Amino acid sequence: MTGASRVRPHLADAPILSFSSNDYLGLACHPALAAAAAFSAARSGFGAGAARLVSGDHAEHRDLEAGLAHFLGYPAALLFPSGYQANLAALTALAGPQDLIVSDRANHASLLDAWRLSRAKAVFYPHCNATRAADLLAKYGPKARRRFLVTESLFSMDGDVAPLAELADLAAHHQASLVVDEAHALGVLGPDGRGLCQAAQIQPDLLIGTLGKAFGAAGGFIASSAQLRNYLLNRGRTFIFTTAQPPPLAAAAFAALALITGPEGQARRLALLTRIRQLNRGLGLHDRPDSPIFPIILGEDARALAASAALRDQGIFAQPIRPPAVREGTARLRIALSALHTPEDIDALAAALTRLPDAP
Ligand SMILES: Cc1ncc(COP(=O)(O)O)c(C=O)c1O
Repeated sequence: MTGASRVRPHLADAPILSFSSNDYLGLACHPALAAAAAFSAARSGFGAGAARLVSGDHAEHRDLEAGLAHFLGYPAALLFPSGYQANLAALTALAGPQDLIVSDRANHASLLDAWRLSRAKAVFYPHCNATRAADLLAKYGPKARRRFLVTESLFSMDGDVAPLAELADLAAHHQASLVVDEAHALGVLGPDGRGLCQAAQIQPDLLIGTLGKAFGAAGGFIASSAQLRNYLLNRGRTFIFTTAQPPPLAAAAFAALALITGPEGQARRLALLTRIRQLNRGLGLHDRPDSPIFPIILGEDARALAASAALRDQGIFAQPIRPPAVREGTARLRIALSALHTPEDIDALAAALTRLPDAP
């Protein structure tokens, strides 16, 4: 891919219309992010030079942490170079062999890896099934030292939403810590883009986010109590043993946060919502949540590959997603919309999708 736009990049020197980035608000090419990064690079240099706990801690990191905590209504936040590392730190620092992790079966690979590294016992409930999560907590919870209930809020590959309020009730009832990964929702969904936990009026013990999707930058974070932040700072191996996020990246993410919380963020969310509803109508999908992620499940890998190739022939880029990113037999096209898609783009996509042999 070449070019600044994640929606209209060039692929092999030809323009293409992409529905395969997570740049939901189109901030990756926003001049305010580039300007903030350039200013910070001039002020603080580019690479952080060391881990945060050694000498890589910069004002940009502190400002961003304070801004994110405020945005989400938490006392504190801790930055990581990526969301993947944030998820690893969350579970490996807090859970151990005597503990239980109750996890949605569709949770992201980083949450699975976090469980594996933690050496806790894990049990998986069918996707979004709070009743089965309750059964698992009741069955295995009492034997465990600590219990963790772990879910994404907006699921990355299915585009659907976890039953967050029910899960929060369950966590409280079973004295489990609730861990929610809001990677795909923050900036996009919920009141002023504050995510689906705010929309559900719950506050998980750990709320995890990435700066690489709607924020248009890179990095990850955990919002929590100040005490947990301190603990993670001292025990999170993916925080301690890695070079800090470059200060210009933190500055760019801070600029994105200012846009997200201001009128421009509001306008971009509205544009995105309008496009989401347009595509729902175009595909005849009713009762779908307002989600920018549209999975078109095709089954066998070959069918997803063929559908992606057919779209490519029509100037549309939609990468096939295959196992292990999704379960065997559920290969799919994952269509992700951005505020930068125009109504004409959505019409073109809907028309191209209905022309596929495996039309939705
Ligand atoms: C649900 C979810 N959590 C975490 C991550 C990891 O975030 P990052 O890309 O910042 O490492 C991703 C994807 O990248 C994701 O989809």
